[in-house]
Amino acid sequence: MSALQGATVLVTGGAGFIGSHLVDVLLDRGAGEVRVLDNLVNGTRRNLEDLDGDGRFALLVGDIRDEDARRAALAGAEIVYHLACLGVRHSLHDPVENHRVNAEGTLAMLGSARDNEVRRFVYVSTSEVFGTAQYAPMDERHPTWPETVYGGSKLAGEAYARAFHRTYGMDSVVVRPFNTYGPRSHFEGDSGEVLPRTIVRLLAGHRPLVYGDGEQTRDFMHVSDTASALAMLGTSSGVAGQTINLGSGTEVTINELCAAVAAAVGRPDLVPEHRDPRPGDVRRLLGDPSVMRSLTGFVPQVDFREGVAELVSWFRSSPVSTTDMLARVEDVNWLARAGTP
Ligand SMILES: NC(=O)c1ccc[n+]([C@@H]2O[C@H](COP(=O)([O-])OP(=O)(O)OC[C@H]3O[C@@H](n4cnc5c(N)ncnc54)[C@H](O)[C@@H]3O)[C@@H](O)[C@H]2O)c1
Repeated sequence: MSALQGATVLVTGGAGFIGSHLVDVLLDRGAGEVRVLDNLVNGTRRNLEDLDGDGRFALLVGDIRDEDARRAALAGAEIVYHLACLGVRHSLHDPVENHRVNAEGTLAMLGSARDNEVRRFVYVSTSEVFGTAQYAPMDERHPTWPETVYGGSKLAGEAYARAFHRTYGMDSVVVRPFNTYGPRSHFEGDSGEVLPRTIVRLLAGHRPLVYGDGEQTRDFMHVSDTASALAMLGTSSGVAGQTINLGSGTEVTINELCAAVAAAVGRPDLVPEHRDPRPGDVRRLLGDPSVMRSLTGFVPQVDFREGVAELVSWFRSSPVSTTDMLARVEDVNWLARAGTP
C-alpha cells in the first residue's frame, strides 16, 4: 500500500496552476483528505470546481502568514506540499511583499509544520534560484545566483527547509521545477507565462512578442508530469534532506516555442516581433533530470509539441473569447512595470 493511501495532505497554493493539478493527482492516488490553504490572490475556485461534492477535499481560504490559518490547515496533516508564493514579475514591482510571502511565509509554514509533527514537508522551489546557467545541463550542485528578488526569496525558503532538516530532524525535501505549462496556466497580468501568452496572442491573430533575440532557452515540463513528480516526492523513501531538480532534460528556445504554437494554431505566417531584452531574464535554463530519476524513477511522459497542441485546444475551448483574454495579457517590458521598489 502506498504511503499516500488514506493520508491527510495539505497543499498550500493549491488553488493555483500547479497546486490544483497536484490536488487532482493526490486524490486520484488515494489520499484520504486533501486540504488547500490559499488566499486566492492568484489562484481561483474555478481551478478546483471539478472537486465540488468530493468529501475528501476542502478549500481553506486564508493566508500562509496568518498563524490561525496555518494551525487550522495543519491540524492532523501528515504530508505538506508548500507551493503558495508570489511570482517573479510581482517581485519586480513589490520586492518587499514578495520576500514576506515567499521567504518569511515559508519559514512560518516550516515552524507550524514542525509544531504539528508532519511526516513530510515538500518545499516547491524553482530553477530561478540558479540565475543564468553557468553550465548545462544544470545539476543540483550548480551555483545559486538568483537574478530576481523572487529567485532570492525562493532560495531563502530552500535554506530554511534544509535548516529544519539539519537542526530539527524534520523530514523535508526541496524540489526545483523548471518551467511548467499546461491547462490552467496563467496568461494574465504579471502572472502571465510566455507559452500561454503566446498562445492567446496567436489565437487572436497577433504575432508573438519576443524580448531579445529569442535564442534564450527554457526547460518545459507538462503540468501533469510536474504534479505526478511532486506527488511521488511526498511519499518516496530516501529523499529527506535532499534538494532535487525537476527538469525534463530538454531545452527549447523561445523562437522554437513560437514556431510550435504557430504550427498548432495553424498560423505559421505569424512570425515573432522582437523587442528589447528584459532585465533579470535568464539566458539559459536546462535541468539535469538524473538525480530525480535515480531517487524516484520519475520520467516525464508528455512531449513538448504534443503538450502545446493540447494547450492550444484547451484555450480554444475556453468560454472566454480570445479577444477578452488578449485584453488581460500584459505585454510590457518588465523594466517599464518595475517602477521604484
Ligand atoms: N509555473 C511554473 O512554471 C513554476 C516553475 C518553477 C517553480 N514553480 C513553483 O511552483 C509553485 C506554484 O506555482 P504556480 O505556477 O502554480 O503559481 P500560482 O500563482 O498559480 O500558485 C500560487 C498560489 O499561491 C497562492 N498564494 C499566494 N500568496 C499566498 C499567501 N500569502 N497565502 C496563501 N496563498 C497564497 C496564490 O493565490 C496561488 O493560488 C510556486 O511555489 C512556484 O515558485 C512554478
